[in-house]
Amino acid sequence: MKPVLSERAITLKRNISPVRQIMSFANPEYFKQLGLDPAEVISFAGGWVNHAAPVELQESYQEIFNDKNLLHKSGGYSPTLGMPECKEALVKYEQHIYDLNGLTPKQIAIGASSTQLTFDLMKVLLNPGDKIALLDPSYCNFPTQIIAALHVTIVRFPVVDVATWKYNADEKIKQFADFIRTEKPKVVLLVSPDNPTSQVLSDDFVQAALKAVEEIGSFLVMDFAYKDIVFLEKIPQYYSLAPSDHFLSIHSNSKWSRSLGRRLGWIEASEDIIESFESVQGSSILCPDTLHQMALTNYIHKAIEKNTFKPYIQQVREQYKKAAQETVTAITEQLGLPCFTPQGGLYTCMKVGMDGAQFVEGMLKETGVLFIPGWGFGRTLQNAIRISYGPLVNDHPKIHQGMKKAREFLDRNSHLQSQ
Ligand SMILES: Cc1ncc(COP(=O)(O)O)c(C=O)c1O
Repeated sequence: MKPVLSERAITLKRNISPVRQIMSFANPEYFKQLGLDPAEVISFAGGWVNHAAPVELQESYQEIFNDKNLLHKSGGYSPTLGMPECKEALVKYEQHIYDLNGLTPKQIAIGASSTQLTFDLMKVLLNPGDKIALLDPSYCNFPTQIIAALHVTIVRFPVVDVATWKYNADEKIKQFADFIRTEKPKVVLLVSPDNPTSQVLSDDFVQAALKAVEEIGSFLVMDFAYKDIVFLEKIPQYYSLAPSDHFLSIHSNSKWSRSLGRRLGWIEASEDIIESFESVQGSSILCPDTLHQMALTNYIHKAIEKNTFKPYIQQVREQYKKAAQETVTAITEQLGLPCFTPQGGLYTCMKVGMDGAQFVEGMLKETGVLFIPGWGFGRTLQNAIRISYGPLVNDHPKIHQGMKKAREFLDRNSHLQSQ
């Protein structure tokens, strides 16, 4: 008799997850099935960055590889919650870039990535049957991660006015705080800058949410995967907030330093949470990668000493800000459809006036231009798509070329756009 897998595994396999759909859409084999030449496809699908990693970070890896002793050291296990010297360096980074004071190494746990840290964190913060609140739209991997971690209910708070295509979080601050007080989620999970909208939550919005979670005895978790890629003149004050009993944050090395494949992330949380995190992380990854921690530690010290850290971050921000402007301009000129103006991150969301998945499929087949359907990010994006300029940060002509081609599809299919 063939053994049966767990119900959770079967359910997860049965329900197509947005991330799996994104991955399968972007598969060159799929392009070939559609009769497209993969090399000719213009993709706005990738949720990844394409700028150069900091020179000193590249050098740090080279130094390790050129030194037998360091290379040997990098092959050893790290402590479960990360190397003390790397935690100290992260404290220094937060102080140097964001004037974040009051953070201590004991409030840091280093992990393999923010994906793994989020998954493990769910088990530390939530009990089966609890509620977790997400904005709508929000990062499309969260629902699967949350459900894969444990049985909890996800409640959503919409922050897009679908009719006017306005991101309206700031108009609904009181409603959001009331929503938290009424629904009583154990965790409120926010992202800023956000994926998929690239909006930066305001201080007022975050402070109101924090006050509400304090009142009901819950946690506000901020996913800071895009923290350093922000275009606003004024950086929000919650960027400099030390962890507390109610506030914790998840960080990633993937985006700012273009280290997506060199998996490293960390959380900043109360000592209590960090201590409880140890046995969960010990069970999932045992310990974070030693090589990446060594290289990052060395980089942070060197870049602060040489005064190159802030200029690097500034330059990265400018690169993506420019790519964001080019994308919005190309959309406006070629397609004339409503989209959000990015305040950070890698994306915008465009209302397409028809089912987003149908739009994406038709677009790819007819023009070889790839977008991501909005449904996976929440109901508000059912008739919308996510457009990423991250991979094309150094190729602005391709952004314009892609939108020009996309226009062909619109010219032929405008009758489908009703909503
Ligand atoms: C909001 C958000 N959080 C987390 C991640 C995953 O980051 P990591 O590479 O650290 O797992 C992503 C990746 O796109 C993201 O958009």
